[in-house]
Amino acid sequence: MKIDGVPYRSVWVDPEDGWSVRILDQTRLPWTVEILRLTEEKQVAHAIKSMQVRGAPLIGAVAAYGLALALRRDASDAALESVAAMLGRTRPTAINLRWALDRMLRALRPVAPEQRAAAAYAAAADIAEDDVETCRRIGQHGLPLIQEIAARKPGQPVNILTHCNTGWIATVDYGTALSVIYQAHDAGIPVHVWVDETRPRNQGSALTAWELGKHGVPHTVVADNAGGHLMQHGQVDIVLVGTDRVTRQGDVANKIGTYLKALAAHDNQVPFWVALPHSTLDMSVRDGVREIPIEERDAREVLETTGQTWDGRIETVRTAAPGSAGANPAFDVTPARLVTGLITERGRCDASEAGLLGLYPDLATAA
Ligand code: MRU
Repeated sequence: MKIDGVPYRSVWVDPEDGWSVRILDQTRLPWTVEILRLTEEKQVAHAIKSMQVRGAPLIGAVAAYGLALALRRDASDAALESVAAMLGRTRPTAINLRWALDRMLRALRPVAPEQRAAAAYAAAADIAEDDVETCRRIGQHGLPLIQEIAARKPGQPVNILTHCNTGWIATVDYGTALSVIYQAHDAGIPVHVWVDETRPRNQGSALTAWELGKHGVPHTVVADNAGGHLMQHGQVDIVLVGTDRVTRQGDVANKIGTYLKALAAHDNQVPFWVALPHSTLDMSVRDGVREIPIEERDAREVLETTGQTWDGRIETVRTAAPGSAGANPAFDVTPARLVTGLITERGRCDASEAGLLGLYPDLATAA
């Protein structure tokens, strides 16, 4: 996608030196577009943990490049396994991280150490290209949902509520739920997006709003708690979110607060759709509430907030009462029964084992 007319991806190999890895520092958005140069696996681990890069598909792709960087210095079997394990520990909820590292290990274990670094760059590039094409297709398969709503209300915008950031900066390009919105907008359908602020880290008000603004998509930032009210008053036609892990039975882990949106949507008969690439499927678990590990982040993210002062400085201030403790579960699980359907690169399906296996028969035996 483009920033001020210049095409970008969310991760790429520096064309100047051919080996260092470039990312957009998402902790600096929306205030400044800052590109970071990563040269070793420790920087990659830090970038993922500190959320300089974030979004389920993107952290998988960046971790893959992290492994390639490490293998330039030490391509032994021991290094391959230990660096993959270290990168895999950076964030626990998004399964895409493990998916990407497992795919790298499968590709690299049989390769002789002297050829491993080159093979790792090629395998990481495959993961990145796979993600770009996958996300483009997700947008295509979601588009008819928006077209159907638009056909029912000619001349009026389709109001879409979204949570967190599921755009091109959460993936390698295009995004997941936002890929659907971009394709609808580009097809000339009038859309308007209610952007949940997404406390505590404000991925909605900082990142989604920035992305939509750069693409010219009409949008309005709302407090996280506004969705139910908007739905009660007919101001939301569809909820579109992404996910960090979908279980075999169709339960959906996503940014904290997604479950409450699904409950409100269910109560108001608003369709609640979830967009995901194949790399987000975890067919080894069934019951998302019991089985998906939920990342607990630093409580300071809840007790404080970061923003730009009127004179341009980026500052973090405490908003909670002095001395109060905080808790920061970063994700929740929406049970399949509250999900209208899933949008994937292979088409749409019910949030159920039968629905998923209809699209992914090749994953039937995946454990
Ligand atoms: O903590 P984050 O910002 O990495 O969480 C991201 C999300 O919850 C997204 O909705 C999710 O990764 C799916 S969209 C690519």
